[in-house]
Amino acid sequence: MIPAIRGTHDILPGEVERWQRVEDVSRRLFERYGYAEVRTPVIEREELFAKGTGETTDIVQKEMYAFTDKGGERITLRPEATPSLVRAFVEHSLEQSMPVPKIYLFGPMFRYERPQKGRYRQFHQLDVEVFGISDPAIDAEVLDLAWALVTELGIANVELVVNSVGCPACRPAFSEALVKALGEDVGRLCADCQRRAATNPLRIFDCKVAQDQPLIDTLPHSTDYLCESCKAHFAAVERHLHVYGIPYRLSHRLVRGLDYYTRTTFEILAGNIGAQNAILGGGRYDGLVKQLGGPDRVGIGFAAGIERLVLAMPEEAGAHGRVPIFVASMGEAARDSGIALLRDLRRAGLEAHMEYEGRSIKSQMKRADRLKAAYALIIGDNELARGEVTVKNMRTSEQAQVPRAGILDYCRARVSGGQE
Ligand code: HAM
Repeated sequence: MIPAIRGTHDILPGEVERWQRVEDVSRRLFERYGYAEVRTPVIEREELFAKGTGETTDIVQKEMYAFTDKGGERITLRPEATPSLVRAFVEHSLEQSMPVPKIYLFGPMFRYERPQKGRYRQFHQLDVEVFGISDPAIDAEVLDLAWALVTELGIANVELVVNSVGCPACRPAFSEALVKALGEDVGRLCADCQRRAATNPLRIFDCKVAQDQPLIDTLPHSTDYLCESCKAHFAAVERHLHVYGIPYRLSHRLVRGLDYYTRTTFEILAGNIGAQNAILGGGRYDGLVKQLGGPDRVGIGFAAGIERLVLAMPEEAGAHGRVPIFVASMGEAARDSGIALLRDLRRAGLEAHMEYEGRSIKSQMKRADRLKAAYALIIGDNELARGEVTVKNMRTSEQAQVPRAGILDYCRARVSGGQE
């Protein structure tokens, strides 16, 4: 057997229903908020992420699946969706065709990280992005959408954390303040942090090394260094959050691990899934579209890790309300009639099964049990002669004779009425 690659996983029946539920709930929700689906390639030019996600991020420095293809091009398996969606927005001038460009995407992402519970090398995100709106009302609406998503999935014990990381006008003063506050102590931090202090001091807040934490906790807060317009923007976001009635906590450490963020950043943390507890993260990226060669348009969005949503969802959340029907037959003529009935049931939108090996009625009913059939439709010589079907309710064991001509209506009424 050739096993799956470390950090990747198969999603099998039994679990896939929970994935389908995440996809169904989010798709319906996104559409209610005016988002349209976009699908972009899994491979992109390496420079899209080098420029977009940022040269100083862990993702670009350590985690990209990048290779040279047979034509000599540097290619990357996308580590995140935002740069791809910005590229698509620019490449197809989506603002011409969409009055408010709001787009969403589901799909696999790839990061060469150390695998553990909730952290994979191929994982899946659902991602939403809005372009061209500076007003803080959109920040709050995006946060409301994120909150509605976890609520509708029934995920309890969650916390929304928000912060503002400022803009290119106020960021340099904050970076300087960080370096100054660290002073000589920078030498006590891990090698990664020492590098960060020189290239992008904000990244120090991403550090997970335990010994570094006490010092990092003493560092200045970005919200104390915001320029007037960033300060006003963040105050308005907080005011709108109160209007929406969404509870949140301010966290000055939330700078997020990607370079493009400006102003609002946020994450939703789940209490019951272990160390990898960020189920969703996002923020505003007002310079990214221009930086990637597009018009000067602001943007904001978030991505949620589907594996982590599925982990955090309550147990019963996968139940799909399926009502399988089993067609059992005795004898060759009855079997042909059963196959025609099977076809009719499926054409009528019902889930229907049979036993293919032509075994005894007893083993057919065993198969019906294993398939958790709600009803068995039984056809033998007697039923054929009378133009009827025997319907057995598999839960109560009650039986009824139903005319063949009326069987589809009979089943449909019971399946949609939930009377199984
Ligand atoms: P991110 O915080 O890197 O942001 O990822 C978003 C979410 O993806 C995380 O909160 C987590 O649930 C999930 N995730 C990330 N890495 C892994 C992994 N190795 N295994 C499992 N799940 C993972 C972004 O990707 C930004 N593009 C979000 C965004 C959209 N910002 C603005 N728009």
